[in-house]
Amino acid sequence: MSGTSADGIDIALVDFSDDAKPRLVASHYEPYNQEIRESITRLYVSGTDEIEHMGRLDKLLANEFSHAVQQFLSKQKLASKDIQAIGNHGQTIRHRPKPSQSPSGHNHSDAFTLQIGCSQTLACLTSIPVIGKFRDKDIALGGQGAPLVPAFQQQLFTQSERDNLVLNIGGIANLTFLPAASTKKSTQSVTGFDTGPGNCLLDDWYTQHHSDGNHYDRNGDWASQGNLIPALLDTMCADLYFQQPAPKSTGREIFHLDWLVSKIASAGLTLPLPEDVQATLLSLTAKTIANDIKSLSTSADVWLCGGGRHNTALISALRRELTSETRANSNASYQLASIDDINIDGDNLEAMAFAWLAYAYQKNIFSNMPSVTGARKSTTLGVLFNP
Ligand SMILES: Nc1ncnc2c1ncn2[C@@H]1O[C@H](COP(=O)(O)OP(=O)(O)OP(=O)(O)O)[C@@H](O)[C@H]1O
Ligand SMILES: [Mg+2]
Repeated sequence: MSGTSADGIDIALVDFSDDAKPRLVASHYEPYNQEIRESITRLYVSGTDEIEHMGRLDKLLANEFSHAVQQFLSKQKLASKDIQAIGNHGQTIRHRPKPSQSPSGHNHSDAFTLQIGCSQTLACLTSIPVIGKFRDKDIALGGQGAPLVPAFQQQLFTQSERDNLVLNIGGIANLTFLPAASTKKSTQSVTGFDTGPGNCLLDDWYTQHHSDGNHYDRNGDWASQGNLIPALLDTMCADLYFQQPAPKSTGREIFHLDWLVSKIASAGLTLPLPEDVQATLLSLTAKTIANDIKSLSTSADVWLCGGGRHNTALISALRRELTSETRANSNASYQLASIDDINIDGDNLEAMAFAWLAYAYQKNIFSNMPSVTGARKSTTLGVLFNP
């Protein structure tokens, strides 16, 4: 798994011998160096010589993935033959699904999503079968091709009396809604969608203003030094993406620094203090997530995963948003906790989900969820690449 933050490679070794209970055996994280990170983020927006650049990076990332896998296996004292398959999400460089509210008559045959990190190369380098291209078939069936993790997450939660929400704060943040078992709510089905920016704009703005070698605002410390700019927050929150109903998904080609710069201009600001902008971005992530949580449920346990859950200022802001809702609405109640509290590794959930998608391919299990992605039908996702 290599997420939209372009921070590095996550490997999860998952044991499926007990079908009902996937078990994380071990995990490994390999950060990218600055050069690779920049090569990836350069492709998030249109530029010159894109095909050449993409072709090279496709192979280079496959080499990086293979190197990380081989290091990991030798550390685990395992050989290629011990591994059934690699589920390779790859690195998303463009994600342009059909808009959720499409003008009638438009068939959206131009919707696409593009992940690189060549699965065929990875299979040949590691001598392990690779299953990749997970998002393509869902898109071909008219779906968003994202999020794909809800089908896996659903298995981790036995139905409970309260709604469960899994909130993954990666570069882009996404929510999975697992409705309570109670009869009243049994008509609701599992849903999930991207809420919008998670860490991506916070990372980008921080990196633009710091040369300390860090690529993120640790614990939101810098954001905490700034003051919220209400006009900028309102302008950003008014963006069409946040108003669209689900199914919806988004990517870095929408939420990047040019987007922020245009919102700063629309808000009529000239040279705002950088730390004030950071404080406002933090608030944007917290507020848009909180709004979506509130629209999905009035009473839910919210489980945090992904790198953003380590951002203490961000989580405090989210907690404040939800607490103010419970003050205003006596029926509302939210519990916010790290998913690690229920013995699920919050740093490896996405990677585990892609191991499961590979397993589902081998077992012919349906792995997309039309209620989440909007695809025309359930299907098994992925394409097999043999060594
Ligand atoms: N202590 C911390 N303080 C602030 N931010 C943090 C901290 N630790 C991690 N992060 C954030 O988490 C990000 C990495 O998160 P993660 O790997 O979940 O995202 P991702 O790779 O985009 O994943 P995906 O797209 O698959 O959800 C970092 O880029 C950073 O923004
Ligand atoms: Mg990551």
